[in-house]
Amino acid sequence: MDRRTFLEAVAGLLGMPFSQIAHWEHPSPPPGPTDEEDFWAWVRSEFPLHPSLLNLNNGGVSPHPRPVLEALFRLELAANEAPAYVMWRLQDQKEPLRQRLAALCGADPEEIALVRNSTEALEAVIFGLDLRPGDEVVLAESDYPSMIAAWKQREARDGIRLRWVRLPLPTDDEEALLRPYLEALTPKTRVLHLTHLINWTGQIVPVQRLTAEARQRGIFTIVDAAHSFAHVAVDFHAWGCDAAGVSLHKWLCAPFGTGLLYVRRERIAEIWPLFAAPADRQPTDIRKFEHLGTRSIPTEQAIAAAIDFHEQIGQARKTARLTQLRQYWLAQALTLPRIRSLTPQRLAAGLATIAVEGWEPSKLADYLLEKHRILVTAIDWAGLKGIRITPHLYTRLVDLDRLLEALKKLP
Ligand SMILES: Cc1ncc(COP(=O)(O)O)c(C=O)c1O
Repeated sequence: MDRRTFLEAVAGLLGMPFSQIAHWEHPSPPPGPTDEEDFWAWVRSEFPLHPSLLNLNNGGVSPHPRPVLEALFRLELAANEAPAYVMWRLQDQKEPLRQRLAALCGADPEEIALVRNSTEALEAVIFGLDLRPGDEVVLAESDYPSMIAAWKQREARDGIRLRWVRLPLPTDDEEALLRPYLEALTPKTRVLHLTHLINWTGQIVPVQRLTAEARQRGIFTIVDAAHSFAHVAVDFHAWGCDAAGVSLHKWLCAPFGTGLLYVRRERIAEIWPLFAAPADRQPTDIRKFEHLGTRSIPTEQAIAAAIDFHEQIGQARKTARLTQLRQYWLAQALTLPRIRSLTPQRLAAGLATIAVEGWEPSKLADYLLEKHRILVTAIDWAGLKGIRITPHLYTRLVDLDRLLEALKKLP
């Protein structure tokens, strides 16, 4: 099937006129490595864009570029011809995906399980570890709410003790970030829960020194890397953590509802899976975390197209671009009166949060949406209040100028 026939089939399936989806057709290859703005214009042309909304909330979830959408539709079409045969017998090829994902995050394929999101990955570990009443878990007030809820449920159910850390956010001082964690560790600490790239403000926590310290004391380390993977370089072996959770529908731009769980090989046997694995599955086998029942194999398999797209750009170039976009708008926003950054200069990448004096976060986010059609995230958590701006690879500098104009005109 050629591209046009394929798109016509998709249009028919979606009940949309062909002309409406024809703009997904961008067969030209990416320009050479020297034409930087041309290159990003090509990247942009690969994304389906909203006709009027300026989407600066790409942190929660990312759109899929055209090759991912095409792969997804192609796989769905094929699967629906005979799901029990095509989807289960032909499409369900997890091993090549496992290998490619492992190569992207400094892990061994035998340490990677394919799951639906970071929540599933991290909660498998939070609920899967054997802990006794009185055992202590160290975590931060700024960790993600679902993980906090999971730990609180264990506290209520199993009598474990949670020791809370307050991080001095924002900061570029690594020692200041590490100190509160180190001070909270006691001989009773069994688990250290860390968030590598904090969703509220984009603060990066250098986890390596903390995991090294924890390992010396026999403490299990979990890293929430939901926002890190495919945004900044991730290397779980170098990070030295025991487990980590990742969302692939964020910065990798993979289909919605895709994620991965990393567990260091030696520690797999210690963790019970959330959904019991069949008896013939060895406790040391990472695949025990994939026993879920029916799930969308087209969704899972289209991850491969997202990896292709990611590799076409390259991690270093992607991080540099996302950082450049953040620096571009933030430096100018900080010249305006009433605006203060909640994001550090150095320990950050593409995502940043500003506080605007006199504005409640949700009121400001609503105002920007209603008045200027700009979508941002209201942040009001753990004492951090502001709006989070999250551009993506398809965001242009002129789009950020539109944001700056709106900020300048704030009443
Ligand atoms: C730090 C952090 N952890 C976990 C999650 C949960 O991710 P998911 O919705 O993919 O489960 C998010 C989502 O934004 C997050 O920012």
